[in-house]
This record gives sequence, C-alpha cells and structure tokens, in this order.
Amino acid sequence: MQHLIDTIEQQLSRSGGESRRLFHGRGHCYPGLEHLVIDWFPPVAVIRLYADVDAAWLDRLCGSLQELAAIEALVVQERGRGREARQRIVFGEVPERLPAVELGLRYWVRPLQNQNSGLFLDMREGRRWVRDNARDARVLNLFAYSCAFSVAAVAGGARSVVNLDMSRGALAQGRENHRLNEQQTADVRFLAHDLMKSWGKLRKLGPYDLILIDPPSFQPGSFVADRDYLKVLRRLPELAAPGCRILACHNDPMHDTVFVRDLVAEACPEFRLQQLLPNPDDFPERDAGRGLKVMLFEREA
Ligand SMILES: C[S@@+](CC[C@H](N)C(=O)[O-])C[C@H]1O[C@@H](n2cnc3c(N)ncnc32)[C@H](O)[C@@H]1O
Repeated sequence: MQHLIDTIEQQLSRSGGESRRLFHGRGHCYPGLEHLVIDWFPPVAVIRLYADVDAAWLDRLCGSLQELAAIEALVVQERGRGREARQRIVFGEVPERLPAVELGLRYWVRPLQNQNSGLFLDMREGRRWVRDNARDARVLNLFAYSCAFSVAAVAGGARSVVNLDMSRGALAQGRENHRLNEQQTADVRFLAHDLMKSWGKLRKLGPYDLILIDPPSFQPGSFVADRDYLKVLRRLPELAAPGCRILACHNDPMHDTVFVRDLVAEACPEFRLQQLLPNPDDFPERDAGRGLKVMLFEREA
C-alpha cells in the first residue's frame, strides 16, 4: 500500500494543478494492481476498479487519499467489461461537471459519468503535438468526441477545423469546450454523422492539411478497428492536401504499431511514417505496444 501511495503522491506533485492519471495499474507495471486506475481532475480524484477488490483494502486506500491535502473529494467507480458500472462518492463534494485543465487549456469533465468522463487523459501528448503543429492548418478531426483535439488545434492557430462524430451529445460538449476556452468557432464545424455512411460533405469541405483519426477499438455497429480502420484510411487520399499530415491513433492492446502502419501502407502508400508520439509519463506500460499508439504520417510531395 505504501508504494501505491508514494506513486500517487509523486504524480500529485507533478500535476501542477492540472488533470493527470495518478495511478495506471492497467499498464501492468504494478503486479497485482492491474485492475486499478486513479484519475485526477483537481480537486476530485476518481478511483476506477476493473475487478472486485477486498473491501478493507479499498477502505485503507480511500483513507490514505483523504489524508492528502490536495484531494478534496473522492469517487469510487466499479466498471469493466461485463460488469454493471457503479459509483459512489467517498468524501467531499463532487460537481456534476467541472473544468479540467490540461496544458493550460480547459475541458469539461463529468467525474461521476460511468464511462468516458469527457477527456481521455492518455492523449495529452497528442493534443500537445496538435497545438504545436496546427498553425494555419485546415484540420479534419474524425471521431471527434468532445472535440479536445479541436480545442488544441484552435489554440495552436489552425485556420479551420471540421469535427465529425456520430454523437450529437459529444459534439455539443465540444462546442462548450471551445466556449470554455473563449475560442472563436466561426471556422469550426461540428458534423454529426456516421462516418462509415457518408463522406460527401467531408469531401466538399476539404482538402485538409492535418487529419486526426482517433476511433474506438471496438464499438459494435459503429466502428470495429479490425474491419473499419482500413476503410477510413482508403478515403484519405481524396481528402488530403499536398503535404498533408495524418495523426492516426489506436488503443487496442491486442494491436501494436504494426497494425496501423501496415494499414496505411496498404490504403495510402504515399503517406510515410514520421514519428511515434510518446505517451504521457503518467501512463507507464510494461509492454509499449499495448498502450495508446499515436502515429504521425506525412504525404510525400
Ligand atoms: C475514442 S473516442 C474519440 C476520442 C476523441 N478523438 C478525443 O480526442 O477525445 C471515439 C468516438 O468515436 C465516435 N464514433 C464511433 N463510431 C463512429 C462512426 N461510425 N462515425 C462517427 N463517429 C463514430 C464515438 O461516438 C466516440 O465519440
């Protein structure tokens, strides 16, 4: 338990008041704690449990977190495939939503939401790269969810952004995220479409200098990476401007970087792999290929 608390305290001290993962057991670097994740949306910590744990052990963990001055409220969430998600507030007041800060930008998160609280913390380096490389770019953000990439792109001086997601609710949250950062959205579009069904509008609004692809690994009926990632990549050449860059993301632990690299080589061989972005240091992985993969490709002139 002490090693766990030390790790959490270390991450807290690195957070500088920003959102962060305090403990990433799922990366298999902490034997016996693979089922434990703790996220930090200051001042609220969220424990996520992906397996049943001993009640006395959990009480001790919650007690230790309560002693840490920075943590004003704590939520415990039980989830995982095939389990009915449950959550409870252990101490403190937890607002329905709060603005999480990351790299100086703000995003609405819902600490009490069963799944997907509004911001995927493991994508921080991806958002940093987008903010640092979006200047003057026409950006296409596929599978935009709450448009966090779009917020980063606008902050980085993008000329325009087209966000596409099949969830209207997520896109509405995306608009609010832009508002939260007092960003102009005259050149930001929000398209609520099933990508697998319609491409015409995206073609009309193109071409694009930067295309972001961050699909779910497995969302039956909407997107299954094994079947659909290739179909999306096949469409890109007609949407891409000369010199276009693609940030292709994938977080299926069963696929390493070779999966996306081979699909790109098959679907759009004129794009060359430039870089594999690093994952944030608060997401340690025992086997690098199992974590999030964020790969940068560039179209040859
Ligand atoms: C992993 S999340 C994307 C995370 C997002 N890029 C971010 O930076 O926070 C996956 C998103 O894909 C969307 N989605 C899944 N299948 C889709 C489809 N066929 N067409 C459009 N959106 C889809 C879901 O609604 C969900 O918001």
